[in-house]
Amino acid sequence: MSKQPIGIFDSGVGGTSIWKEIQLLLPNENTIYLADSSNAPYGTKTKQQIIDLSIRNTQFLLNKGSKLIVVACNTATTNAIKMLRSTFDVPFIGIEPAIKPASLNTYTKAVGILATKGTLSSELFHTTTNLYSNGINVIEQVGDGIVELIESGKIHSEEMEALLKGYLQPMIDANIDYLVLGCTHYPYLMPLLLQILPKSVKIIDSGAAVARQTKAILHQHHLLNTEPSKTSYDFYTTGTPQVMESLLGEDYKVQHISL
Ligand code: DGL
Repeated sequence: MSKQPIGIFDSGVGGTSIWKEIQLLLPNENTIYLADSSNAPYGTKTKQQIIDLSIRNTQFLLNKGSKLIVVACNTATTNAIKMLRSTFDVPFIGIEPAIKPASLNTYTKAVGILATKGTLSSELFHTTTNLYSNGINVIEQVGDGIVELIESGKIHSEEMEALLKGYLQPMIDANIDYLVLGCTHYPYLMPLLLQILPKSVKIIDSGAAVARQTKAILHQHHLLNTEPSKTSYDFYTTGTPQVMESLLGEDYKVQHISL
């Protein structure tokens, strides 16, 4: 069982930022990644639609023999992980905006959070925010249009720069010292974010924490692959492979599938 792959899914290419962290921390693990790019963005869909797509994605990864599922999408985690855990009998790891470390460490008592509408309107996000943000000015911003631009290969574009400047200025005006990236697509914006934000603002994303949690849960279930062998990395997309291949580099091939 430990040789079976870790299954990872996202609405699109963003979860590859999580896959990179998992591959770094767990180099013996085989992985299967599913990008549901033909249905991206998930962030504008209803909770029920997100649940239905997440169940379908999980089913695909389980049919391929996954021993554990990483929901590499904040929107799917905050809307569907409860349902996934009650439907399937494998361990699930999710990702949520890291509002807790930002709120505990802020000096200016102002933190920014950039995420999808689906994440910011979820019950799970509200519960976490209410728990940790007492006395802190949390500036929430829906990142409308960002996922679409990344999915169409326009990470480093003038459109993206203009969009981000508009979203971040109110946060800069409110004197934030932490920006929480609440979507797994957003780590790919790091160069632009660093360019736009004042140097005093720290950017938090949860990718490395998700990889550590994956390792801990595999260990707990005796599922860690401890034998070094030739590792397999399989990538599937319901969209076009080119954008994902350009993010992964030329060593990796992405296969198109219809679900
Ligand atoms: N990567 C997804 C997330 O973390 C993007 C959601 C979307 O497709 O809108 O939320």
